[in-house]
Amino acid sequence: MYNITVVGTGYVGLVTGACLADFGNNVTCVDSDAAKIERMKALELPFFEPGLPEIVERNFNEGRLHFTSDLATAVRNSKVVFITVGTPPRADGSADTSAIYAVAKIVAQNLNGYKLVIQKSTAPVGTARDLYRHMSKYAKKGAKFDVASNPEFLREGSALETSMRPDRVVIGAESKEAESILRKIHEPLFLIETPMIVTSLETAELIKYASNCFLATKISFINEMANLCEALGADVQMVAKGLGMDRRIGPKFLHAGPGYGGSCFPKDTHALSAFAKKAKVKSGIVDAVIAANDHQMTRMVDKICNSIGAPRGKKVAVLGLSFKPNTDDLREAPALYIIEGLKKRGVKVVAFDPISMRKAEELPQLKNVEFGADAYDAARGAHAVAIITEWNEFRGMELSRLKRVMKKPVLCDLRNLYKRDQVEAAGFEYVGVGKGVPAGLTKKKPAKRASKKA
Ligand code: UGA
Repeated sequence: MYNITVVGTGYVGLVTGACLADFGNNVTCVDSDAAKIERMKALELPFFEPGLPEIVERNFNEGRLHFTSDLATAVRNSKVVFITVGTPPRADGSADTSAIYAVAKIVAQNLNGYKLVIQKSTAPVGTARDLYRHMSKYAKKGAKFDVASNPEFLREGSALETSMRPDRVVIGAESKEAESILRKIHEPLFLIETPMIVTSLETAELIKYASNCFLATKISFINEMANLCEALGADVQMVAKGLGMDRRIGPKFLHAGPGYGGSCFPKDTHALSAFAKKAKVKSGIVDAVIAANDHQMTRMVDKICNSIGAPRGKKVAVLGLSFKPNTDDLREAPALYIIEGLKKRGVKVVAFDPISMRKAEELPQLKNVEFGADAYDAARGAHAVAIITEWNEFRGMELSRLKRVMKKPVLCDLRNLYKRDQVEAAGFEYVGVGKGVPAGLTKKKPAKRASKKA
């Protein structure tokens, strides 16, 4: 077991720190935001993640997890330092790695014996090797240290599951000592037979970008198929099912929807494109994925507006704001983009999200948006309801109750949670994603008559 410092208490840092403490290490989580550190000491976590409060509380109370903003002291007391600070996008799409370098400098100035610095923030290929050079400038002569890369593959909303039971562990390490420490740290995962790759720093860094860009590609690809399905009368869910049965393709990440969001795919696709450009390599596929995703979100605005006729002055209830369920993360959430598009067309938006509303209320781009107390409250007097995030509570709504409170019964199901027949039988006009109707088979009229008869 090691004394470990984890620098940066965002998603990756806090989840990593909590899991490492749970594996028995003595972990100090560091953040430059002293107020945030104080809140964490009072066990108030900065974001919502299922299961995380329990594991943080247990390890904090049992003395294996500590919080501080004193980086230098934490480093001096640790053999291993994980860097998990943010790498936000710059205006040109490249990742801003200045926070990583600032942390590495302080680590270099506090080397009181061999230390392993593990670069876990998603950063352009070449960052880890460059960090070694950067630290050498600030370290005392003869100070011993290594820099390794150990990319993180956790998913928000299921962060503990994906950290405690990952598909693989990727270790970029180029000294025996660095590799051996990283193997020891991950031992509890090897006991459950997690596969591992040990490779060079650059290869480890690129595996991370390649993984996220490939997943984003799968999503943009199925979204493009969805658009074709709408034009040609096919059903994208069945296309995805048939496609995914080929084991070379696989069924996951083939859910058509409003486009991907979050703090990773948008940022990492842009960053790959930027560092490919710098390396004078064409990244045509990833560039097309980015364009397809922007296009998909715009299409959703058109879809909703088309469903309500002339949009100006109409009211739309948006259900779901976070970029996916089980998180309150609003970063690059398709809902924000779609709401902005609706507002530009003069639509009045009332939103509801089970968890992220408090964060949403603080966003300047949601200034003129009203918030409902629940889905039915948001839908009161609306000309359409648009489901943007697939929270479980939107899967089983009472459609007759929803219809009663709405001005016009239109359901834009942008996550394909409902079946057309079920929605139409309840008297709604149904709008899905990629749910085309074969030519000759006209869409059933959602007519009031049908519901009255029923
Ligand atoms: C993503 C990756 O899945 C993780 O493996 C990676 O570690 C993480 O980024 C990261 O780089 O830190 P995350 O951003 O938490 O994880 O979310 P995902 O579950 O991948 O979803 C991303 C977006 O894609 C969401 O907006 C989601 O709605 C959308 N999506 C996902 C689809 O539209 N269709 C799908 O089939 C799957």
